[in-house]
Amino acid sequence: MTAHAQRYRVPITRLDNEDPELMDELLEAVQHVAATARFILGPEVEAFEAEWADHCGAGHAVALSSGTDALILALRALDIGPGDEVVIPANSFVATAEAVSLVGATPCFVDVEPTTALITPGAMRAAIGPRTRCVIPVHLYGRTLALEPLARLAAERGVAVIEDACQAHGALIGNRRAGTVGIAGCFSFYPAKNLGAWGDAGALVTDDARLAERVRLLRTHGERVRYHHEIVGTTARLDDIQAAILRVKLRRLDTWNAARRQIGAALTAALRDSPVTPPAATGADSDHVFHQFVVQSDERDRLRVHLMNRGIATAIHYPVPIHQTPAYAARPVSHLPVAETLAKRILSLPIYPGMPDHEVGLVADAIADFPAA
Ligand SMILES: Cc1ncc(COP(=O)(O)O)c(C=O)c1O
Repeated sequence: MTAHAQRYRVPITRLDNEDPELMDELLEAVQHVAATARFILGPEVEAFEAEWADHCGAGHAVALSSGTDALILALRALDIGPGDEVVIPANSFVATAEAVSLVGATPCFVDVEPTTALITPGAMRAAIGPRTRCVIPVHLYGRTLALEPLARLAAERGVAVIEDACQAHGALIGNRRAGTVGIAGCFSFYPAKNLGAWGDAGALVTDDARLAERVRLLRTHGERVRYHHEIVGTTARLDDIQAAILRVKLRRLDTWNAARRQIGAALTAALRDSPVTPPAATGADSDHVFHQFVVQSDERDRLRVHLMNRGIATAIHYPVPIHQTPAYAARPVSHLPVAETLAKRILSLPIYPGMPDHEVGLVADAIADFPAA
């Protein structure tokens, strides 16, 4: 049992060391890479790229060192930089904005929708201005946005859609996978993700062969041939140990997502008459793979302490909207009231595939017992 599990009766998530059968397979995969000593851009990376592209239904997948690098290289490959504006949601992980800033472009923060805490395609459309080169919708918490109309309109206006699918592995948009509606989809395989590596890892998927090729060049110092640097690139490669681990876990992703959907539905039902607002239902062409199960409460901070005292781990995604973080607060930015209010109301409850019914019950009972102020 990990220290994490000892401290809480219900952990916020569970990592691979809690699953002995999976651990055996993963260690075998790592041992195989160690024995072959092909660590960088070797056969495991190549195989993972083919399998991830196939799973997503995308023409190409390029395996990268992180989700942040996937976003940065997508922007760089599209020549988005100084003087360009990129529309992003105020509620996301900061990396969505950092990628824009790191290529020298300007992030334009847009407010989110109050029931889902996600940006809407309509709000992104309305924010497109004369300098907008790109919009980055974020399928936050594992909930997908129905992007097809936005993608059509953006294409007419010469604006690129890069999907931040870092929390939405395997989630559907109609009958397509998250990450395949825009020109590029970016994924993080940080260990706690629905598909997680044993370190930092990421990928970009696209149907555009030229874009994929450019990202491949950028991830390894602009070289196709060793020491022949065609463009200024960087080091942003996935390594073969991470790829081998991801290949083992990818075979289970759809099953794990189905379990997350089922547990999300059970938690939602259990919280029906409780003092918290459970996640909103999904629409016909969107999906939710519950990377996070996010409720809302007027008394979030007091509720969090109450749950901690009952041995239930929680988290906040995210406590400060990006435009109000010290990194961005100096910029002149309009008041974004929904994101600012939600940052004080949202609370992520435990969810993970294999979460037993009694843990769902412990969470629901603890919330039902939350004393009114
Ligand atoms: C929405 C979102 N975007 C981008 C990232 C960045 O991914 P990484 O941590 O792999 O760089 C994350 C990772 O948590 C994320 O959740």
